[in-house]
Amino acid sequence: MNKVQLSPRAAEIALSQRVSRISISSTAAVVMEAEKLRAEGADLMDFGAGEPDFPTPENIKEAAIRAIREDFSKYTATGGTMELRAAIAYRHAADFGTSYAPSEIIATAGGKQAIFNAICSLINPGDEVILPVPYWVTFHDVINYAAGRPILLETREEENFNLTAEMVKEALTPRTRLVVLNSPCNPSGAVIPAQELERILEVTARHGAWLLSDECYCHFVYDEAPFSLGSLPGAKDHLILIGSLSKTYAMTGWRVGYAMAPAKLTSAMVKLQSHSTSNPSSIAQKAAVEALTGPQDSVKLMLREYQRRRDFVIEKLREISGVTCTLPRGAFYAYPNVSAFLESGDRHRGHHSHKKAGNTSSNELAKKLLRESGVVVVPGEAFGTLHHLRLSYANSMENLAEGLKRLKRFFSEQAN
Ligand SMILES: Cc1ncc(COP(=O)(O)O)c(C=O)c1O
Repeated sequence: MNKVQLSPRAAEIALSQRVSRISISSTAAVVMEAEKLRAEGADLMDFGAGEPDFPTPENIKEAAIRAIREDFSKYTATGGTMELRAAIAYRHAADFGTSYAPSEIIATAGGKQAIFNAICSLINPGDEVILPVPYWVTFHDVINYAAGRPILLETREEENFNLTAEMVKEALTPRTRLVVLNSPCNPSGAVIPAQELERILEVTARHGAWLLSDECYCHFVYDEAPFSLGSLPGAKDHLILIGSLSKTYAMTGWRVGYAMAPAKLTSAMVKLQSHSTSNPSSIAQKAAVEALTGPQDSVKLMLREYQRRRDFVIEKLREISGVTCTLPRGAFYAYPNVSAFLESGDRHRGHHSHKKAGNTSSNELAKKLLRESGVVVVPGEAFGTLHHLRLSYANSMENLAEGLKRLKRFFSEQAN
């Protein structure tokens, strides 16, 4: 048979503009590099991935096994079974005093898909989306994918990366369509106080824009009670709440998340999902119902353990000469400032520099840290800041202790 001849134009792979506007998640790049070294036998302390080190609780696993045995293995409604959507509404009402109907809820394959569906359903080319910095990398890429314009709103490290309504107000323009919030924040661990959240919602709604509140870490707050913007009277008309079972119930691989929003928007999201992934896995949905309606003790236990680890990690990081670190008040990440070890850092820090080793970016520093000390972290560039590293402390105390010892040694070598 003759070989098929392609025209030169067809042979070169021309990707769509949409996909060319985004990049692979930088967390994934770190994971790839770490995997390569691990395959070569390196002994790594991995603080890269943002996922609980706890196993999924037994009762949740049992529910999934039951679902398989009972052949609950067919397509379900695209936006999730009525049972699951009712369970999401029930849990949210019990935890936060909200009142969402199943028609205002869509179940998705993880919080990520909920964010993707929401942004793609709302944003037209050129629409402005206010995104506080540091931001979780996916927001930035999905806004770009949808051809929106990310309007980056710098928060101040000196003020614990806190976002205020005043800052949002100044960034609003006639083109603003959406404001994105993520409290507790990945990567900084910042938690916006409830009163400030209320003011942010008020200025956004008065302006006629939407507020997307990613509350995936809402149960992991250390210094105050968990809070959801959905509990405020009148909030629902302007609000898209994003939730996930990944972190709350240590279920990252099961892929169950959700969005809560006005029914017109959830219907649009269901429409989009019906042409992409359809329903989240039927088995995972059954497990999610058990997670949401069964005992909640595991969440409290994890919270207590994360708090112990946070206190340890922050204390140890602050002992390293040249490293500063704000206190994360939620989620499970520490976001130390390492500008003293970067070529451009001294300009920003205003104190003496430890930059002898000549690192020009946190990217380079993270790579060196991995190669020389076997510690995996994500460089701040991924989150829109230049002088930080992100460490996930969802890891055992033993690994954290060893990793922090290595970090201390690494940074003292950089300084000498
Ligand atoms: C801020 C934030 N939102 C959403 C997610 C989505 O998680 P998932 O898709 O596993 O629910 C993550 C995961 O890392 C996250 O950090």
